[in-house]
Amino acid sequence: MKNILVTGGTGFIGSHTVLELLIQNYRVTVIDNLSNSKLESLKRVEKLTRKNAHFEHIDLLDVKALELLFQSSHFDAVIHFAGLKAVGESVEQPLKYYKNNISGTVNLCEAMNKAGIKNLVFSSSATVYGDPDSSPIPEKSPLKAVNPYGRTKLTIEYILRELHTSDNSWNVALLRYFNPVGAHESGEIGEDPNGIPNNLMPFITQVAIGKLKELNVFGGDYPTHDGTGIRDYIHVSDLAAGHIRALKKLEEKPGLVVYNLGTGKGSSVMDVIKAFEKASGKKIPYKITPRRPGDAAVCYADVSKANQELNWQTKRDLEDMCRDAWNWQQKNPNGYP
Ligand code: NAD
Ligand code: UFG
Repeated sequence: MKNILVTGGTGFIGSHTVLELLIQNYRVTVIDNLSNSKLESLKRVEKLTRKNAHFEHIDLLDVKALELLFQSSHFDAVIHFAGLKAVGESVEQPLKYYKNNISGTVNLCEAMNKAGIKNLVFSSSATVYGDPDSSPIPEKSPLKAVNPYGRTKLTIEYILRELHTSDNSWNVALLRYFNPVGAHESGEIGEDPNGIPNNLMPFITQVAIGKLKELNVFGGDYPTHDGTGIRDYIHVSDLAAGHIRALKKLEEKPGLVVYNLGTGKGSSVMDVIKAFEKASGKKIPYKITPRRPGDAAVCYADVSKANQELNWQTKRDLEDMCRDAWNWQQKNPNGYP
């Protein structure tokens, strides 16, 4: 598998994965509708790797454009990142999420089917575990979606399972990411959220640089060591490497596979603040506010399956994640130009 199509490849996780693919000498085509990213990310990836990726401005809802793409190019596999991901927005605009994420994926799979390309790596999420009964969470835990965004991820997982059941020449890796954070160590590519960030790490880096006044810590009364919520933060470069391992896995042992991609370690909001302060030398002003509705107290992965079967381990710790997120923020105070 050398020719890889990456959907959503100009986005946060996509751009880091394209970088890793190029370093490992894959030939890469990126499609993206640029609804939540800029082409600049890909330009920087090309500069960093001194290699080129082919880009096409395509929306997954454009069936004709997808068909033309698959007619004009050959791919061995597809890594499918393209999707909308804001939980709050999905509650306000569920149809937008169902249409974009689910119809977009169905269109992609139909185009792949027609072209006879049946190797797919899909960006799923720990959100498919809903509010987990306990952590660490193994892949066989009960699945439950608690918001429209989560329901799109869970539905796509079912669609891809059913596709594999109907035609076992489909090879599918469902990768359930925990909390991707950080940035490439160069600080040239990173996370570039629109408006005020929803997620913890970009919010902290924007407080540190003075764009936001203070961090609201959502809940100080969870049953955790310091009362704040616990998550499994994973460096985006470690996550990117997991995708290459998943491609190799599909090649060596075809079938449908499911893996958690996390570190297996839980860190509280206070742990993240402390690690960030240490890595950046900046004080993060914060106040404890009421819990954010829908947030789980504790959510971290059992990563033993990915460790063993993908021969994949994370290499970077929370301090590395904070250092790299801060480096990216400092070099790009307003994100990509
Ligand atoms: P991102 O928004 O940075 O990247 C997604 C990319 O998909 C964007 O570049 C966007 O423009 C593109 N896109 C969206 N809809 C499209 C469409 N219809 N056609 C073509 N392009 C389209 O997000 P990310 O953080 O890089 O996430 C990548 C994937 O991983 C998403 O599917 C997301 O749901 C999933 N995921 C992300 C997280 C996280 O916390 N970042 C956690 C778990 C899973
Ligand atoms: N938090 C704060 N203040 C903030 C933002 C977050 O205290 O301003 C807390 C949250 O309550 C939570 C932790 O920081 O305890 C992490 O919150 P994030 O919003 O960064 O991440 P979530 O775990 O809520 O969700 C993320 C993605 C989801 C995805 C999930 C699992 O946003 O899309 O990880 O992969 F489903």
